[in-house]
Amino acid sequence: MMKNLLYPIAPPLLGWFQATRRSLPFRDDPTPYHIWVSEIMLQQTRMAAVLPYYERFMDALPDVHALAACDPERLTKLWEGLGYYSRVRNLQKAAQVVCEQYGGELPRTYEELLKLPGIGAYTAGAIASISMGIPVPAVDGNVLRVFARLYDDDRDVLLPETKEDITERVREQLPPDAAGDFNQALMELGALVCTPRSPDCTRCPLRDLCLGMENRGELVEELPVKTKKKPRTAVDVTVLLVRSPAGWLVMKRPDKGLLAGLWQPLTAEKLCTEEEMLSLAEKLGIRAEITFPLPAARHIFTHVEWTLCGWMAQTEEAVVLPEGYAWMGDMDTYSIPSAFRAYTPIMADGL
Ligand code: ADE
Repeated sequence: MMKNLLYPIAPPLLGWFQATRRSLPFRDDPTPYHIWVSEIMLQQTRMAAVLPYYERFMDALPDVHALAACDPERLTKLWEGLGYYSRVRNLQKAAQVVCEQYGGELPRTYEELLKLPGIGAYTAGAIASISMGIPVPAVDGNVLRVFARLYDDDRDVLLPETKEDITERVREQLPPDAAGDFNQALMELGALVCTPRSPDCTRCPLRDLCLGMENRGELVEELPVKTKKKPRTAVDVTVLLVRSPAGWLVMKRPDKGLLAGLWQPLTAEKLCTEEEMLSLAEKLGIRAEITFPLPAARHIFTHVEWTLCGWMAQTEEAVVLPEGYAWMGDMDTYSIPSAFRAYTPIMADGL
């Protein structure tokens, strides 16, 4: 169970924000359009990088109508350098919806904002609270970090339940008459003081309330917990389906590791050329000729992802094979792992 804080955070947080708030063009003129465009730009890009883009964008496209009607090439140019171009494509799509369905004014409820392309819970919350004064949370990565520390919450903030709980905590703390400033103050605190590394706790307006600080001291930096999913290892796999009068060539996998001891077609766990695969066959005394390329395929294991490709080949003679290799004359004697399922029907048909 998470503990409650002793006092509400709004008074010290808002006091700190009044004293330190940065002047920003959209903050100083917080129309729904200004907040919307700036929040979309700020999603994957730092404030300092965003500011010149924001100014240029507003000079070129000062309102929703101009954005909706902008030539897509010109729009892409205005975004060039910010990256993640789907953001600007969605921005324009949403602007067109706003013109067609809402007469060019962004809708004035959180729920309706959420329906627009490219506007998720965070952006809808930011637009609603900052430009319309609607008391809803706007929880981005900064706010998750501040709250995980404030409540000494060591659950994985990447899990949806954790984010929902933290959003609920923000809602409890949100002052109904100052939601926009409160949300901006939290983002600002996360960006300037409660930073991911080396947070400046001595300058934090919430240090006396912070359970993470109380329980962990400087080690509060360990929060928030983000369990990284280890990316799967990508492995290229090249297959040669060699057919002889006695059946398909199969080989036994090593006794340890992935698919240990199972049988498979002639396989190399790397990207090989036709010649390299034919020379593998030749080492077994097989003189084969390529007939067809195999379709590319993918198989996902827990920790490994295979991308398969290869060829079919034919040999006139069923040479005697060394141990660990065999000619498979029917599909029942050897069970080929499902990682090869793109190719097993071809083998079954060819028998
Ligand atoms: N980062 C993203 N949006 C922000 C905002 N409105 N104020 C400060 N930092 C932000």
